[in-house]
Amino acid sequence: MSISQQAFLRDAMRRLNLTRDVFATRIGVKRRALDTWLLPEGSQEFRAMPEVVERFVSEIVQNGTLLEKYTQSVQGGPLRDRIAVEGKHQLLSVDQFTRESVEELFRVADLMQPIARRQKVSRVLEGAVLGNLFFEASTRTRVSFGSAFCRLGGSVCDTTGFTFSSMAKGESIYDTSRVMSGYVDAMVVRHPDQGSVAEFARATNIPVVNGGDGPGEHPSQALLDLYTILTEFSRLGKLLDGAHIAMVGDLKYGRTVHSLIKLLALYKGIKFTLISPPGLEMPAYIVEKASRNGNVIEQQSSLAEGLAGADVIYATRVQKERFASEESEGYTPEFQISRATIDAHCGPDTIVMHPLPRDSRPGANDLSTDLNDDPRLAIFRQTDNGIPIRMAIFAVLLGVEGLVQHSMRDVTWKHPSHVGPDDSAFHGLD
Ligand code: NCD
Repeated sequence: MSISQQAFLRDAMRRLNLTRDVFATRIGVKRRALDTWLLPEGSQEFRAMPEVVERFVSEIVQNGTLLEKYTQSVQGGPLRDRIAVEGKHQLLSVDQFTRESVEELFRVADLMQPIARRQKVSRVLEGAVLGNLFFEASTRTRVSFGSAFCRLGGSVCDTTGFTFSSMAKGESIYDTSRVMSGYVDAMVVRHPDQGSVAEFARATNIPVVNGGDGPGEHPSQALLDLYTILTEFSRLGKLLDGAHIAMVGDLKYGRTVHSLIKLLALYKGIKFTLISPPGLEMPAYIVEKASRNGNVIEQQSSLAEGLAGADVIYATRVQKERFASEESEGYTPEFQISRATIDAHCGPDTIVMHPLPRDSRPGANDLSTDLNDDPRLAIFRQTDNGIPIRMAIFAVLLGVEGLVQHSMRDVTWKHPSHVGPDDSAFHGLD
């Protein structure tokens, strides 16, 4: 080493902005050992640090990304504080995440898998009540948020649609949110107007999760989609940095793709191809946000060109309920993703995703059911991942993620090893 050991270590701690205690913990050594390495070389108590420590510390300090990672994860305190919105523990947008914090959330989701797979139970949220406020149609988001809360030991109160809520009598978002805060410990809100969930969030101090605000965002869906992509890629031996992601369909009103493209843009060198029927293109402000980290975005109007070589095809439903007038015909048959399309343009390692629901009515030309027994179709693995992700969101927002591991007990009831015929086939092939 050209500089003294003392100068080297002091410099490392300064750059990482860590105290001696935290630095020692971080590099996995005793504080007493670190103290002896930090003494002047001539002193009696001085010890030379092992070469492996020197190499490890140099690597962190010289590598900008690692430096950022080590600084953030120790410095920032609990994840709920690092993703907070104006000091509140809420999840309104994927903009709250960095690559590090999103991956930290995924580690919590991994911890939840034995509960999600019905091997273990936990009661860390015993006594807590979730208010599920859905003012728009929903099956999976509403039920999976409810199920995730229950699987952590909490209970759920639901209200669905405007008709059965006091909003039908003219009650404001502020009053509704403030009233609910006295009844429940967290709220998940879905509402047809962009920005409305943030309005709910401003009227309360309890955690609010955006379950979809009109054509705005759907952060929990994007989180489970990214988690699915990373899980599938790890099985296939692929990295997300540098991957090719094709998004197909209603990219104008589809809130799931609005959140997902921004989240994926935390990774590097991704090629996005955006394929939509005329008039349903991704809004420019989102394209601009996603154009970072060396990511390339290409807009296409034909499936054949857009899908060639894609690692992920993310199809979406045409959101006709959001059309002001007949602004688009929707999918014409040449937009349909079917087994023939995938076979023609993609390889055996492409994965096909969709946030669901898919419109299976004749003429809708949404994702075809002829892929149902094709292992490339990841849609049900995707929906299954909604549970560990939503459990992780609640655990983090309510600050109990550290209690989960030791709270688990074996499940008492019997349940099938695979919940759907599709996943037994998939695991058979794995
Ligand atoms: C989506 C939604 O509601 O935004 N569904 C979902 O939550 N998984 C997609 C859609 O309705 O097309």
